[in-house]
Amino acid sequence: MRTLAPLGRRRVLVSRGDDVGAYRVLQVADPQGPPLPAAGQFYMLATVARWGGGDDERPYLPRAFSFLSARRGKLSFMFEDVGPGTRRLAELDAGEELWLTGPLGAGFRTPHDGRRALLAGGGVGVPPLAALATVLSSHGTRPTAVLGFRDEHHAAGAVLLEDADATVATDDGSVGHHGLVTELLAAELARDAHAVVYSCGPPGMLEAVRALCAEHDVPAQLALEAGMACGFGACYGCVVPLREGGYVRVCVDGPVIDAARLDGVPAH
Ligand SMILES: Cc1cc2nc3c(=O)[nH]c(=O)nc-3n(C[C@H](O)[C@H](O)[C@H](O)COP(=O)(O)OP(=O)(O)OC[C@H]3O[C@@H](n4cnc5c(N)ncnc54)[C@H](O)[C@@H]3O)c2cc1C
Ligand code: FES
Repeated sequence: MRTLAPLGRRRVLVSRGDDVGAYRVLQVADPQGPPLPAAGQFYMLATVARWGGGDDERPYLPRAFSFLSARRGKLSFMFEDVGPGTRRLAELDAGEELWLTGPLGAGFRTPHDGRRALLAGGGVGVPPLAALATVLSSHGTRPTAVLGFRDEHHAAGAVLLEDADATVATDDGSVGHHGLVTELLAAELARDAHAVVYSCGPPGMLEAVRALCAEHDVPAQLALEAGMACGFGACYGCVVPLREGGYVRVCVDGPVIDAARLDGVPAH
């Protein structure tokens, strides 16, 4: 699924910023953007002020972020402060401005042939799954989700998956299942494997989901992450190798790729 982006970047206003556990959620007004980006598509974001380039600042390229929700000309994004770009974005509050390009890439395809949607995510992999859950719920099917986080503080992010019935696993056992999210996914597949698995999370988790789904012969769509310089297919900085030979560009052919096309999920 792909919604085409208007040409060029847009200057948009942040309408609110909230901390949710370890994450920052920004809501922005995007009146000129398409009303319905496809779940799993992403945007390139940069702040208008202080995005590097000053005497003591490093110039940044915009960073890629999946949208969390898109409603009535408002978009939201969720991220964790892991580096200079997310740190600067996390400082933003209502009234400040962003440069935004998108929606970009190809998103998830909804299930057909009666299979149920099973969502499996970890950490900042929540946004594309939350957007997909909203689409599925609007079609009358509230999906099941399994989500993995480091600890209770991070697991607070599970509330952002509003339109799914989610079970949580944490690495330290501070909340939910003590262990890996793939253990919850394996239990779900043992219960009913007539499913399509939709997944987004760190590469190690995505690879475990890919291997598990291959073992159970269950189709899976993986929202991949890759270092992105341009976001629209020009630099080839985001390629991943395919099982059939050759490469795909995650920014235009993905970020959602059928697991069956990959021999493995590359670590970045
Ligand atoms: C399609 C897509 C959608 C995404 N959606 C989201 C989202 O919804 N929310 C979200 O939080 N993130 C998302 N990301 C990831 C986000 O774009 C990156 O994490 C981004 O690089 C963060 O920028 P930064 O400047 O904060 O950190 P960066 O400096 O770019 O670092 C990001 C991470 O990479 C690590 N890193 C940096 N350099 C190296 C290196 N040389 N070797 C190993 N590791 C390194 C850092 O420790 C950090 O964990 C998405 C990425 C893609 C491609
Ligand atoms: S980020 Fe430039 S080709 Fe994908």
